[in-house]
Amino acid sequence: MSMTSTAKIPFLDLVSPHQELQTELLAVVKKAFDSAGFIGGPMVDEFEREFAKFCDTKYCIGVNSGTDALRFAFMAAGVAPGDIVVTVPHTFIATTEAISQAGAQVTFVDINEETYTMDPERLRDYLENMCEFDPSRGKLIEKASKCSVSAVVPVHLYGQMADMDPILGLAEKYNLIVIEDACQAHGAEYFSKKAGIWRKAGSMGLAAAFSFYPGKNLGACGEAGAITTNDEVLANKMRMIRDHGQSKKYYHDVEGYNGRLDSIQAGWLTVKLRHLAKWNESRRTIAQRYHELFAELKEGITIPREAAWTRGVYHLYVVRVQDREALQAHLAGAGIGTGIHYPIPTHRQPAVGCFAPLAVPRTERLVDEILSLPMSADHTDEEIDRVVAAVRAFFGA
Ligand SMILES: Cc1ncc(COP(=O)(O)O)c(C=O)c1O
Repeated sequence: MSMTSTAKIPFLDLVSPHQELQTELLAVVKKAFDSAGFIGGPMVDEFEREFAKFCDTKYCIGVNSGTDALRFAFMAAGVAPGDIVVTVPHTFIATTEAISQAGAQVTFVDINEETYTMDPERLRDYLENMCEFDPSRGKLIEKASKCSVSAVVPVHLYGQMADMDPILGLAEKYNLIVIEDACQAHGAEYFSKKAGIWRKAGSMGLAAAFSFYPGKNLGACGEAGAITTNDEVLANKMRMIRDHGQSKKYYHDVEGYNGRLDSIQAGWLTVKLRHLAKWNESRRTIAQRYHELFAELKEGITIPREAAWTRGVYHLYVVRVQDREALQAHLAGAGIGTGIHYPIPTHRQPAVGCFAPLAVPRTERLVDEILSLPMSADHTDEEIDRVVAAVRAFFGA
């Protein structure tokens, strides 16, 4: 996208990247039109194969949305009504919706101050001090509620990985299911010291959920999502749950949902998947430019910190500032779009029922200070320079 120095810089431009792929993307629609294969079929199979390969997993199950992906993963993994599922409050509401729609209760632990993802020490603190093992039930029980703790959901927010080694270690110790919320992290990587290798988002938990909402690093032309896993039994269960619980046509073994991926979305995603690694690399280059330019601004702004063990994919570039609303207004005045992800943490949303929440002071502090700056794979250097110049002007630098 090339712009003159006075053109607006939208927070998210979904038109230009699709125009570049117009011929290939419209061919997908024509293919579905010609075959009238609208639901499931070869285009869905192909995308599932390719996305599993991309994530280094054995299986991928295409579904309707990231929310469905989470919900189906909980149900198939055996999260039962009344169980507790532990996650972070600094996430999109869908993480907690899926937990409660699977019948479970959500408990929140705080984030790490620097990575904005689950702090394994807070998780440890909760499991060791607020829960106890009940030998008669063979389960870890939360002392206050007497409910069993069955799963933990690290959220790889903004395209940055949660610190998975210690989270997986705790899950193993306490026999907890790990479902990754990788809805913002297509292609992000984590260096596992334990395994001695880089591992892809979505390949470490029992299962992982991805969203292909149009604005994501890999976005559909409507609603779409996927679940990845290495577990064949789980994969088969999730395939059934997404398709009315049927094992074959009109034989419904369990109650399921209409949560299938349609073929136009799948074909569209297969085309875009071929470009994803390159787009993620561009996002990392743009993030690096932001980092370097902001480094000259000595104070007033905290830039995202990428821990040594992650290669983030910068779904969002989120800075922290004291006077967030004023900076946002200033940038809007300069024609620069921004967003807030998210202004109200999930534990304070009226829609979310949770047991007495644990103290989450880092999340509480963060939500009033975060601002998402323009970030997509095709920003020009000039655009990034203009955003930084406008931020500098705000601080009088
Ligand atoms: C962290 C997170 N979890 C879950 C979801 C839900 O995905 P979807 O909107 O595809 O249902 C999203 C989507 O925005 C998300 O960002």
